[in-house]
Amino acid sequence: MIKKVAILANGGDVAGFNAVIRAIKKTCETHGIECYGFLDGFRGLVNNNYIRLDGNPMASGILPKGGSIIGSSTNAIVFHYKVEHEDGTVTYEDLSDQCVKNVMEDGFDCVFTLGGDSTQKSARDLFIKGINTIGIPKTIDNDVTCTDVTFGYNTAVHVATEAIDRLHTTAETHHRIMVLEVMGRFAGWIALESAISGGADVALIPEIPYDINKAAEAINKRKEHGKKFSIVVVSEGAHPLNEKQTTHAAEGIDDKAGISIKFGGEGNRVAKELQDLTGLEARCTILGYMQRGGTPTAYDRVLSTKYGAKAMELAMEGKFGILTVVKNGKLDYVSLEDVVGENKEIGAVQGGTAESSVRVVTMNDELVKTARDVGICLGD
Ligand code: F6P
Repeated sequence: MIKKVAILANGGDVAGFNAVIRAIKKTCETHGIECYGFLDGFRGLVNNNYIRLDGNPMASGILPKGGSIIGSSTNAIVFHYKVEHEDGTVTYEDLSDQCVKNVMEDGFDCVFTLGGDSTQKSARDLFIKGINTIGIPKTIDNDVTCTDVTFGYNTAVHVATEAIDRLHTTAETHHRIMVLEVMGRFAGWIALESAISGGADVALIPEIPYDINKAAEAINKRKEHGKKFSIVVVSEGAHPLNEKQTTHAAEGIDDKAGISIKFGGEGNRVAKELQDLTGLEARCTILGYMQRGGTPTAYDRVLSTKYGAKAMELAMEGKFGILTVVKNGKLDYVSLEDVVGENKEIGAVQGGTAESSVRVVTMNDELVKTARDVGICLGD
């Protein structure tokens, strides 16, 4: 019988974080289990900083609220944790033993890890070290392995679709090419799905290295048919054939941490090149953090609630070291071993890199076929 659980929200925020927290908390209340939340993700676990959630008024009315009431941290990996010393020096240290000690001393029977590939890698490593973890797949990028869908993704697609709709009217008015850069470092799910839902003409994703001439051809063909405007959706991780992704180092983050790579800027490059190749004026809009903030869609609220309640059910059954997933439309779970794939070494590369185990768009995916069928140019 479990008596006391803790929630940890980690990584870039998504709409739906609070809905998952609420579902776990409410299921705890239903079953008389104490529910706590570590503050600011893995930072809270390292510093043993947490608050009680069941019966707490601040954890009420949070279903439609964006963000996370218990915060979240990016670039906090307990196996490679940034420690700033009094003399100003910085070292990266393995603080996982400290985390295990905290959880044991606090008496948490389970820690729910709400996060993406990096978070779930740490969850698996911490499970091996003795913490009963249950992962819940979060990310707007929809790139966590073993599940069909992550919470937060649907809202991001919704926001991108609305942006495309708005860009459509201004593109048409001014006879311009409107490029929308969306998130997605190694997986183009947001770009692909929003291109379909928004009726874009071109979608460039990391999985299909693009030839800009193909995109220009598609736009020129539209021009010949009297359509003097076009909509292009670009994943931040899209890149031309034989060229690397557009990245830059995040300010203040040590390269050795393996988490310093920031994406962004590909949309501007695409806009400039398409302007040169088509003679049409081109503008780029970078959607950025709009995709992560704000209220979740109804779909994400339901998905998050299902994920949270299912995770608690599994905890009550004593199943740990797992990730809740959706497979073929049904809630299920898989071992975190499957989620990390070949990335077995404890404390090794955690995520957010080309080497991490992420679910990318495959060429036989229905979305790719649908996009091609309706004439969306994928840059190949
Ligand atoms: O993983 C989600 C994501 O939204 C990526 O698509 C993006 O590159 C990244 O987070 C940026 O996060 P931050 O700037 O918060 O580190």
